[in-house]
Amino acid sequence: SYGIKALLERGKDLLQQEVVVNGWVRSFRSNRFVALNDGSTINNVQVVVDFENFDESIIKQISTAASLSVTGVVVESEGAGQEIEIIAKEIKVLGIAPSDDVQGTILQPKQHSLETLREQAHLRFRTNLFGAIFRVRNSLMFAIHKYFNENGFVYVNTPIITGSDAEGAGEMFHVTNLDVNNLPRTEDGEVDYTQDFFGKSTNLTVSGQLEGETAAMGLGKVYTFGPTFRAENSNTSRHLAEFWMIEPEIAFFDLDQNMDLAEDFMKYVISYAMENCKDDLAFLAQRYDKEQQGKPAAERSELGLIERLEYVLNNEFVRLSYTEAVEILKESKPNKKGKFKYPIEGWGADLQSEHERYLVEKHFKTPVILFDYPAEIKAFYMRMNEDGKTVRAMDVLFPGIGEIIGGSQREERLEVLDEKMEKFGIDPEELWWYRDTRRFGTVPHSGFGLGLERLVLFVTGMGNIRDVIPFPRTPNNAEF
Ligand code: 4AD
Ligand code: MG
Repeated sequence: SYGIKALLERGKDLLQQEVVVNGWVRSFRSNRFVALNDGSTINNVQVVVDFENFDESIIKQISTAASLSVTGVVVESEGAGQEIEIIAKEIKVLGIAPSDDVQGTILQPKQHSLETLREQAHLRFRTNLFGAIFRVRNSLMFAIHKYFNENGFVYVNTPIITGSDAEGAGEMFHVTNLDVNNLPRTEDGEVDYTQDFFGKSTNLTVSGQLEGETAAMGLGKVYTFGPTFRAENSNTSRHLAEFWMIEPEIAFFDLDQNMDLAEDFMKYVISYAMENCKDDLAFLAQRYDKEQQGKPAAERSELGLIERLEYVLNNEFVRLSYTEAVEILKESKPNKKGKFKYPIEGWGADLQSEHERYLVEKHFKTPVILFDYPAEIKAFYMRMNEDGKTVRAMDVLFPGIGEIIGGSQREERLEVLDEKMEKFGIDPEELWWYRDTRRFGTVPHSGFGLGLERLVLFVTGMGNIRDVIPFPRTPNNAEF
């Protein structure tokens, strides 16, 4: 019994041998040629069904999307692009599939819109496109674990239910076991969370960073990799309400080292996927390159998908301070009218994604690491610079994506941290455990967060983040 990937890899070594293969029918041509796929590879194996050897009742049950277990003999194939095929001796139809059922429409070998496929998220695993995407996603996740483990990092699990809002942005999903139709109230009408399961108000994590920092203060080099939840406006092609974040945190590490790590790490995981997902990426590149052809010249990527990946591997990321970036943007002429949709408001304002993408795609044409942002627009935990205005933040910006990583050197000085918390209106008693890391042997430390789905978008060349996670969670969408 062979998986189709293994079977095709052994190819002519298996000539004349009897094998068993299982899979789903992708197409059934001329009542004779079955293209069978089992999800292990984008490639199908061709099964030849000589109808004189089979009952008509079996042939009738073979149709697109049906599942089969085939016993047959491997022979050389005369078809183009395939070394071998299987002459069927015995076919078990494990499950038939009606071809006139609307629910199964996306399984028919036609072009379906991504939107239609999204509505059938439970079936889209069966398509070439989503098979390729989710195998690449898997390869990237594996590469991430491999990179960190080979570099002495310890994988730690931070809680999914927490009492803290690490980013201070107030975009949390609340968690409670109280009866929401009959919430207990205190005398002044507030919800009485002392009666909640945890005895306090809790939420789904928006970042494992703060807990990750406490782990790094004992284990030295750690990383988290888990689901992350944000109730922000996720009606964009770059935001999900539930996404997966990778957050390394390193003791005795400054911002320059953090930038070196981010660049080395990104190049490693991208090259790992390129090495290990050649067939899938070749398919995705075809799709991407064709899509680019259809775009107006101004929006078109100058490079094909594979060239773009190679370009990132072979070029150093540009490192630029926020202040320098604002100067460049002020003088830039992004389009014919020479204007951005959102004007550059000058020093102190947050950058919009069109500004980020201008720097990456038009000005430098390489990934860019922006650092030293104004303190006011970044989170409370970032280390204050000597200028008293900027913090040791860094954002890594990628072509076609914009921000793919956000990170910083952390404020390790307790007095400065306390001042910052006061300014940001954060109760020091709530974060007593976080302050403790600065009270007992504090050290300079840094880390960053990578959104897995933004990385998968970049590597697969897909345009919408809903298409790179199996079951996307976005406003008004929690169907499955
Ligand atoms: O920039 P963010 O908010 O940084 C943090 O959460 C830090 N605590 C990370 C750290 O220093 N340990 O988020 C980090 C990354 C973003 O750059 C983006 O790639 C991704 O997480 N991200 C999202 N991805 C999908 N959907 C969303 N709603 C996202 N929000 C952030
Ligand atoms: Mg950010």
